[in-house]
Amino acid sequence: MEIQLWRELLDPYEQAVSELLKKFCNVREEYLKKNMYAPIESVSGRVKTVASILEKMQRKNISFETLEEDLDDIAGIRIICQFVEDIEKVAALIGKRTDMEIRSTKDYLRNQKGSGYRSFHLIVWYTVQTIDGPKKLQVEIQIRTMAMNFWATTEHSLQYKYKGEIPAHISQQLNRASEAIEILDREMSQVRSEIMDAQIDSQIETNLVKDILRNIENLYKLDNKREVVKIQNEFYRIFSTHNLEELKRFHRQLDIIAEGSRAQAVDPAVNHQ
Ligand code: GTP
Ligand code: MG
Repeated sequence: MEIQLWRELLDPYEQAVSELLKKFCNVREEYLKKNMYAPIESVSGRVKTVASILEKMQRKNISFETLEEDLDDIAGIRIICQFVEDIEKVAALIGKRTDMEIRSTKDYLRNQKGSGYRSFHLIVWYTVQTIDGPKKLQVEIQIRTMAMNFWATTEHSLQYKYKGEIPAHISQQLNRASEAIEILDREMSQVRSEIMDAQIDSQIETNLVKDILRNIENLYKLDNKREVVKIQNEFYRIFSTHNLEELKRFHRQLDIIAEGSRAQAVDPAVNHQ
């Protein structure tokens, strides 16, 4: 295959990866904006390199004719979660979407690989719109916890270093590390609700502060500046107490003030009442 044809082959996969990255980031954003715990911690993606495609074609005896059917990981998305429980939530979320269709799944959580590898994999059909029309592609989505990702990344580097022939004693260490990772994930799940509560509170605080500052800024444009400075100082005072309920109350009061101020600005008649 000529170099130009590789570009033609890979371009739609580049498009798929960039679209899916955006979509999964949006899922996370949606949760955060609603002050909800986000089951997605981070997302990354890549298109397989030509070198890696050629290596896999040789290893699995795949021809150029059936390349796109037989190689289901030309486009890859990796979703990292904080807790094991989040993995199935994300998988269910993908299952409900109408812009991707699950073709197959591999559960390396229940069926851990001999190496110690743990992760949940989905192959999905995803359609990109190109100037030549729609193109339906396979995308591999790997979902794993941060701890599982730590293990997989380390093991992958060692596979690379030893060219796939990791010495037995290192393999054993990796297997032990994988067990430790499983225990760590289980321990973290035990305190999950505590961590989730703390994260949600911190998110609520962030959103409240953003909203309060927006209101103060708007008031500053419309209202008596000295009054607004007083309001801002009051905000600083409440913020320093780290009392979320106080902050919520202040936010509500400020909303009422801002509403009144907007009404005045829109309807000059209000000034004369
Ligand atoms: P590959 O040829 O490695 O892509 O395997 P496959 O197409 O037969 O599918 P499999 O489900 O075994 O692996 C898919 C992907 O999961 C791999 O490309 C890796 O990213 C990851 N993976 C699978 N097994 C391991 C493992 O033992 N260690 C690490 N670090 N990653 C793994
Ligand atoms: Mg692969």
